[in-house]
Amino acid sequence: TNLYASSFWGTHHSFVFQNSTKVYFGNDSVSTYLPGLLAQYGPKVMLTYGGGSIKKTGIYEEIMGYLKTAGKTVVEFSGIRSNPTYAKVLEGAALAKKEKVDLILAVGGGSVMDCSKAISLGAVYDGDLWDAYWAHAGKIETKPIPLGIVLTVSGTGSETNGGSVITNESLKVKTGRDYPELNAQFAILNPKYTETVPKFQFISGAFDSLSHMMEIYFSEPNDNNVSDVMNEALMRSAVDNIRAILVDPHDEGARSNLVWLATMAENRILKLGKKTDFQCHILEHSLGAYTFCNHGAGLAVLHPVYYRHIVKDGTKKFARFAEKVFDIDPSEGDELTRAQKGIEALTAFIKEIGLPTRLRDMNIDHAVLVDVAAGCVASPGSFRQLGKEEIREIFEEAY
Ligand code: NZQ
Ligand code: ZN
Repeated sequence: TNLYASSFWGTHHSFVFQNSTKVYFGNDSVSTYLPGLLAQYGPKVMLTYGGGSIKKTGIYEEIMGYLKTAGKTVVEFSGIRSNPTYAKVLEGAALAKKEKVDLILAVGGGSVMDCSKAISLGAVYDGDLWDAYWAHAGKIETKPIPLGIVLTVSGTGSETNGGSVITNESLKVKTGRDYPELNAQFAILNPKYTETVPKFQFISGAFDSLSHMMEIYFSEPNDNNVSDVMNEALMRSAVDNIRAILVDPHDEGARSNLVWLATMAENRILKLGKKTDFQCHILEHSLGAYTFCNHGAGLAVLHPVYYRHIVKDGTKKFARFAEKVFDIDPSEGDELTRAQKGIEALTAFIKEIGLPTRLRDMNIDHAVLVDVAAGCVASPGSFRQLGKEEIREIFEEAY
């Protein structure tokens, strides 16, 4: 099933909006707010994190200090890899269940946040979790364990949504959906924490945010609507701030803008009234299921290729994108030419910021593409639904 493509919150001119995550933002946000937040929960905290960057950066030590001062018993769950697996979810869920934890504190990026959300549900849900959460879009009555987040790398926007993107290695499926019950209770976003993120990862995360904006923008409705206008401003800001941080990695304004832009792209506000598409994400997730490639880099390669396929079906919107985001002169040439210029400007931007434009440059084995394409579903959200053969062509052209 294609869970990514449907907007949980309704389409067109009717929707329900809620975002239950309380956000604390700023360079002193962890020291200012985490101690008080910890005091609101029971004594046992499960601390979840990735492969160890938090130990090198000192974030682990700082947070352990607050946990100790608050008198918490800490259960550690580490080694959550990028593109987290369902096996890791089940392992964490069993631990959380056994230890009867009162709070899960996720310290990391999309992978740690997503895995922790799934753990928070898996620890209390008795049925088949994959079936209940990822395979169907139904409602689960069980309340998850409370979750708090300390962000260390930005891009996915997972900090303020209910998305949990998990790779099921045996099924070769990577998928997720926005399930509001899985929103964290609080998310602390300290842009300073992201200063140690390797440049390539930080930029690929920022491109992931831009990708989320584009996936929402290129979907119905295309007539007069608030979301598209806000989105144009956010996309411009993403382009400007990615450029600024590359000029000066110490630019605090650009860094904090990029962290907040990532949240803004995926906190449901932009999706209100939009059908949303996420076809490019579905393509990338299929690639990820087979290769565990970097999410933002995979998107960077696939976006222009996919857009060249659908530009004639959504010419007017692509021409508008060209003008609003990449300053293509609206009085020059015909609409299709301007639309195509916008896609080429996006491609040039991807090169400029050091992201790949071909799958062969990402250490991806060509032979895997047959299965990747076969495992990929077509989203109904955009201008035109792709056929199976065309999906195959897109991966070939992207190689
Ligand atoms: O594992 P550690 O050692 O912590 O290292 C991580 C990891 O290697 C490192 N890192 C994190 N904070 C750091 C740091 N290194 C130095 N200093 C720091 N402060 O960064 C690397 C990448 O981390 P990861 O969490 O994997 O990256 P990202 O935030 O891009 O998350 C990617 C995952 O999120 C999913 C992706 O598919 C992918 O699985 N997505 C989640 C979404 C959601 N829930 O809404 C939406 C997205 O479209 C996306 O699909
Ligand atoms: Zn993404």
